[in-house]
Amino acid sequence: MTRPLVFAHRGSSAALPEHTLDAYRRAIDEGADGLECDVRLTRDGHLVCIHDRRLDRTSNGRGRVSAATLDELERLDFGSWHPETSRSSGPVLAGVLTLERLIATTVDAGRPLWLLIETKHPSRFGSAVEERLVELLKRYGLAGGDPLAMIKVVVMSFSPLAVRSVRTLAPDLPTGYLFELVPPRVRDGRAPFGASILGPSVGALRTHPEVVGRAHERGHQVYVWTVNTPDEVELVAGLGVDGIISDRPAYVLSQLGH
Ligand code: G3P
Ligand code: CA
Repeated sequence: MTRPLVFAHRGSSAALPEHTLDAYRRAIDEGADGLECDVRLTRDGHLVCIHDRRLDRTSNGRGRVSAATLDELERLDFGSWHPETSRSSGPVLAGVLTLERLIATTVDAGRPLWLLIETKHPSRFGSAVEERLVELLKRYGLAGGDPLAMIKVVVMSFSPLAVRSVRTLAPDLPTGYLFELVPPRVRDGRAPFGASILGPSVGALRTHPEVVGRAHERGHQVYVWTVNTPDEVELVAGLGVDGIISDRPAYVLSQLGH
């Protein structure tokens, strides 16, 4: 049996501040199969890797990401808040990470890597987020359709509308539908809205483990999030998931025997 792919959730984000270049470089060094990131649009139309709607938790800025320009975000520090980093090696000073920079870093790694990009909704920009994303991916030749591509992109979202719009804008791009609780229509393993991959939480698989087998019967892969503890790794590996999204990719790889 092949082992599941291991994806670094917001980079190696248990060890280093999430969505920073350092966290992603560490994940690459640790041997992660792929990187996960969240994207949002700035006021002036740039895609940046930030999870929250607001800047407050992960930077020294305040207010909504969508209300700031890239230039304004570039003046902020996205590293110093991280408790683990401050305790051990001192604070990491890190600027905002644009998706374009993350793509360049992924390409520069020089080895096969998956890049899971989650579009965050609701967004005041609506489907412009997916339009801008697909445009960028096309510019880098990453919008799918090349089975030999070194970098394989998957676009994921909790928003059915976002998944559907990616499917329309880039029919060859793999898409994932994320959910925290298993929606009734997904219980039979069907991936809705044109998605090719199901993205349940660990909790969803605890309550409905049968979803994995049913998804496989329908030809869909299952990437589960966010898997960080021994019992979580054991559960999802036992169910035969295809991808594990973790804040601790090195740990998960070692638990899987790599
Ligand atoms: O990859 C899916 C997972 O990242 C979804 O949850 O809140 O961490 O973006 P969240
Ligand atoms: Ca995410």
